[in-house]
Amino acid sequence: MSKRVTKNMQDEISAIKTFAVFIAIIAVIICIYFVIIKNIEPIEDKTVDIAGYSLSFDSDVYDIEIGQREKLDINFVSGNIVDTSLLYSSSDESVVSVDNNGYIDALSIGQAVIKAANAEGKLSAEITVVVHNTGELSSAMTTTTTAVTTAPVQTTTTVTTTTPIVIDWEVEVESIALSKSEISLDIWEIEMPMVTMLPSTAKDKSERWSSSDESIAVVDAYGNIRGVAPGQCVITVTSVNNPNLSASVNVIVSSSSLVEGVTFIDGIMVVNKSYPLPVDYVPQSTNDYGLDDMCYSAYLDMKSDAQDDGISLYISSAYRSYSTQSSLYSNYVANRGQQAADTFSARAGYSEHQSGLAIDVNEVSDAFIGTPEAIWLAEHAHEYGFIIRYPEGKSDITGYKYEPWHIRYVGIETATHLYENELTIEEYLGIDSVYAE
Ligand code: DAL
Ligand code: ZN
Repeated sequence: MSKRVTKNMQDEISAIKTFAVFIAIIAVIICIYFVIIKNIEPIEDKTVDIAGYSLSFDSDVYDIEIGQREKLDINFVSGNIVDTSLLYSSSDESVVSVDNNGYIDALSIGQAVIKAANAEGKLSAEITVVVHNTGELSSAMTTTTTAVTTAPVQTTTTVTTTTPIVIDWEVEVESIALSKSEISLDIWEIEMPMVTMLPSTAKDKSERWSSSDESIAVVDAYGNIRGVAPGQCVITVTSVNNPNLSASVNVIVSSSSLVEGVTFIDGIMVVNKSYPLPVDYVPQSTNDYGLDDMCYSAYLDMKSDAQDDGISLYISSAYRSYSTQSSLYSNYVANRGQQAADTFSARAGYSEHQSGLAIDVNEVSDAFIGTPEAIWLAEHAHEYGFIIRYPEGKSDITGYKYEPWHIRYVGIETATHLYENELTIEEYLGIDSVYAE
């Protein structure tokens, strides 16, 4: 009996020893991996890549002279990320400040780490920005000898290292230029040329952007230019500080395979009973409502101004996919019959909601008619680029009964023209809205 116990104990000790050796081997393998393999991997590539998304700066370090303003080049493959905006931050705002468009201002000698992260927090990238004295960058780049001989001079005279540099931030903008004189875009494609305002220490480098023809290309407050329809126009940026200064870029918009099957007439995307959208058509969008971004931004401006007038606007329905519209319409047909449904609900593929350019605001029912909100909307929507798409008394033309809540984005110029002349899109373009059947 005692012999059997002793044998069992020996077996156990032997098993523990084997296990310990096994663990030691695993530990050695892990150490080898970290010490050898990790060390021979290149460490320069700071790209963060998550399932096809990536964010990286062009380099690890960026040299800049004091007083300069530059745009950091960043590589962002956004994949299907919904919110593609980037948030920038600086480890030391007194040395280098950064705005949300990636522009850095070199404020004092030293260095700071600039971090960019996408709004959803999935990706981030860092770059060290080193601020040099004026003229130091070009001399440092000439020869090593120059750098060596100048270094003691700096420390003994203390001119460049200890004397605070006073920058006159109050100067006016004296010139403005764009990085491109011509841009070619497909419909829906977006490009942003770089703006340089000099001197770099100018007190107010704000920009104001405009398009000579919003039916061809539109531009937002940051200079993102988007092709709307085939044609040419001019996009201009003006200095807010000195409105006499402006720079322009010619924009040529060509038709794109992206929008095959979508009808544009005179730069207006047409969606009605005669002109459907492809089943798989989905607007480009970075907002939660799936709306075209220009349309959503115009809506937000309108909502804010309405609020100032004591009018509360909210979105009841925005982008609707082909399949959502299909379910909606089928329900209406089941409950009310097809003939009735066709007077107030579009068949799948024929709804403006699939375009991302239409919004139903507030109450989607006849109770909305005549409310202060409906009256305000009818009077002011065009100021933001919207029209009341299905006005009263025009059902035979639009194909739908009066819907004071359904607004359609067409741009301020077209919307104002339609409002002032009491025209529907069908009347303006001379087209029908009738199902082929
Ligand atoms: N109510 C509008 C006509 C639509 O369904 O798109
Ligand atoms: Zn609607």
